[in-house]
Amino acid sequence: MAGGDWTTDSNEALTLSLVRAQEDKKALRSDESFEQFHPTFTYPIYGEEEKIYGYEDLVIDLRFASGSLAQFLSVSYAKKLDASSTVDNAEGILSEFIPPGYDTDEAMFLSRVEEDAISFKPIGRLVHSYKRSPRIHALPDGTSEETIEYEVYHATLDDPGFREYHRRMQIFILLYIEAGSYINEEEEGWEFVVLYEKRKRANGTPTYHFVGYSSLYNFYCFPERVRLRLSQFVILPPYQRQGHGSELYKAIYNYVLSCPAVSELTVEDPAEAFEDLRDRNDLRMLLAHEQFIREGFGDSGVTGSQGGGRVSKGKSRARTQVVPLGSKGKGKMGPPVDRAWAENWRKDLKIASRQFHRLVEMLILLHLD
Ligand code: ACO
Repeated sequence: MAGGDWTTDSNEALTLSLVRAQEDKKALRSDESFEQFHPTFTYPIYGEEEKIYGYEDLVIDLRFASGSLAQFLSVSYAKKLDASSTVDNAEGILSEFIPPGYDTDEAMFLSRVEEDAISFKPIGRLVHSYKRSPRIHALPDGTSEETIEYEVYHATLDDPGFREYHRRMQIFILLYIEAGSYINEEEEGWEFVVLYEKRKRANGTPTYHFVGYSSLYNFYCFPERVRLRLSQFVILPPYQRQGHGSELYKAIYNYVLSCPAVSELTVEDPAEAFEDLRDRNDLRMLLAHEQFIREGFGDSGVTGSQGGGRVSKGKSRARTQVVPLGSKGKGKMGPPVDRAWAENWRKDLKIASRQFHRLVEMLILLHLD
């Protein structure tokens, strides 16, 4: 807020919200609120200092219809400095980062929210769905909560309407990913996975509410496969720390496994929180993989598995040279002892080389413990 010096912190002034139709709001429990959250970064929009000059009690109200992401932008303040040449144009600056045609009239926006809630359907192909309770903590009285369904859709800029949809959601990249920037739409090869909360109205009609998304870029990879690089990944604050990031990541990984044309998943410049999420999910996946653990760590594998396990995809592995991964690693970390064995698994699991070797080191440490 302006402390008499007419400057405002742009991260505080910019107020975001996801707006649901009246009927959909009634279905929310009292502790579920999607009203008003703030960005982590606004420097790409309002400059390095993240300050806006010339206002007192400035509020930049940017609202999104919860599914279609139709936008409303309105700026209010208690006082504005007269010296107009030095006053920042709070709305004008932001408007350059969102598509034109956003609402500035609240009544019009709210009626659009009502219409979109019924007509909006996710674009693309459903690739993953899961259910969970709306909040992490169990109810104090021990009763079970109604579960909510979530769905992940895969789309490209060629899917009808998705280019426009992407233009509405990409602002979240600037607001939440450090050094995030808009993608070049002219480049071929962008793919997207978008996560929605799916609720049902009393009459059975489903409504969809945006939770987060990830953009992926596919590189041609000699001789005929593509490498998919995860480029951007965001879960909106009201949905963070409830396992949705993990589900979206798993959806992407399973999508990669299911595409014969994709050779591996790589990640572009991951933020620490994302690296953490990736490590946890990759490790969980490997630990649950009985054959991998049994072959790599012997019968006393970290899972305590008795074998049985997954049937190999028919590829013969370099079994004769296999030395349990942990056996030479005692007391020091090192690469897997049998490169051919590890490389075969890495290719099958479609994990990028550096990440795979990090995971193996972590498994060796777990095994030593
Ligand atoms: N009960 C309790 N805790 C839980 C539960 C649960 N049911 N589910 C998850 N958690 C905890 C996890 O243990 C984890 O905690 P920890 O980090 O302390 O170990 C934490 O919640 C996060 O896990 P998720 O909930 O699966 O992840 P989330 O949905 O919060 O998404 C993300 C994480 C993507 C980093 C999100 O915070 C975000 O979008 N941040 C801003 C943007 C960003 O940084 N994106 C990554 C940029 S890097 C890139 O784009 C390549």
